[in-house]
Amino acid sequence: MTDFGAIGVSRPLVLVGGGRMGSALLAGWLGRGLHGTAVVVVEPDADAAREIKTGNADVTVVPSMDKVRREPAVVVLAVKPQVMAAVLPDVAQYPKALFLSIAAGKTLDYFAQALGADAAVVRAMPNTPAAIGKGVSVCVASTNVSEAQRSLCTALLDAVGAVAWIDNEKLMDAVTALSGSGPAYVFYLIECMAAAGQAAGLPAELADMLARRTVAGAGALVEASDDESTATLRRNVTSPNGTTEAALNVLMGENGLAPLLRHAVEAAARRSKELSA
Ligand SMILES: NC(=O)c1ccc[n+]([C@@H]2O[C@H](COP(=O)([O-])OP(=O)(O)OC[C@H]3O[C@@H](n4cnc5c(N)ncnc54)[C@H](OP(=O)(O)O)[C@@H]3O)[C@@H](O)[C@H]2O)c1
Repeated sequence: MTDFGAIGVSRPLVLVGGGRMGSALLAGWLGRGLHGTAVVVVEPDADAAREIKTGNADVTVVPSMDKVRREPAVVVLAVKPQVMAAVLPDVAQYPKALFLSIAAGKTLDYFAQALGADAAVVRAMPNTPAAIGKGVSVCVASTNVSEAQRSLCTALLDAVGAVAWIDNEKLMDAVTALSGSGPAYVFYLIECMAAAGQAAGLPAELADMLARRTVAGAGALVEASDDESTATLRRNVTSPNGTTEAALNVLMGENGLAPLLRHAVEAAARRSKELSA
C-alpha cells in the first residue's frame, strides 16, 4: 500500500482539473489505496464532474475552488496551461499546501510569482501512457520543497508510471521533447511501418495490425529486459547478412533515423522553450 503522507480526510488532496490527465492520476491514486474521502476534485465541466463522481462515489467533486471547504495538504494543478493564471489566485490562499503542477511550460518561477516565494512547488511532466499506468514523469522541485514532500510527489506520480527527478529545470524542455511528446513519435512510427508494409504488398488492415503489435510487443520486451541494453536486444534479432540487417543498414545510415530524431527532438525542445518564455 502506498504511503500518501500528510493527505487525509481533514487535509485532503485537491485536484484542480479532472480532464484526461487529472482523471488518470485520480484512478492511479485510488488504485494505490488513497481513500476517495481524502480527495476533492475541482472540475467546472458538468459532464466530466458527473463522470468522476459516478466512478468514485467517495470523492468530493466541486465546480470551483471557492467550494473547497477543507485546507488541502496537496494541490495538484492539472488544468491546461492557458487557464492556469485564472486558477492560481484561488489556490494561493493555501500557503501551507504542497503544489504539484503537471502543466506544460509553466515554470517554478511562474508559480513563485503567483503563489509567493515561500510556496512549495513541484513541476512535473508526465506523458499520455499515464492513462494506463504506463507513463513516465520527470519532476523538478522549488527550494522550499521538503524531502517528505518530494517523497509524496514521487508516490503520487508513481501511481501512473515511472518517476525521475532533475535538479536543473532548464532540462524540462528536453524532457518535454523526449518523453512528453514522445508517444506521438511512436504512434507515427507505427503509421509509417504500416504504410511501408502496404507498399511492400500487404493489405492495409493486416499491415496496420502487424505494425501495432510489433511496436507494442517490442515495447513489452524492452520493459521485461531491464538488464539488457536496447542495442543488445537489437543485435539479438539481427543475423549477419539477414533481412533485419538489410533494413538497419538503411535506418542506421548517414541520413537515417538518428539524425532525423535528433532534429525532431531539437524542434520540440525549441518550441517548449518558446512556449514557456
Ligand atoms: N495529456 C497529456 O498527454 C499531458 C502530458 C503532460 C502534461 N499535460 C498537462 O496536463 C494538463 C491537463 O491536460 P489534459 O490533457 O488533462 O487537459 P484536459 O483534458 O483539457 O483537462 C483539463 C481539465 O481542467 C478543467 N478546467 C478548466 N478550467 C478550470 C478551472 N478554472 N478550475 C478547475 N478545472 C478547470 C477542464 O474543464 P473544461 O473542459 O470545462 O475546460 C478540463 O476538464 C495540461 O496543463 C497539460 O499541459 C498533459
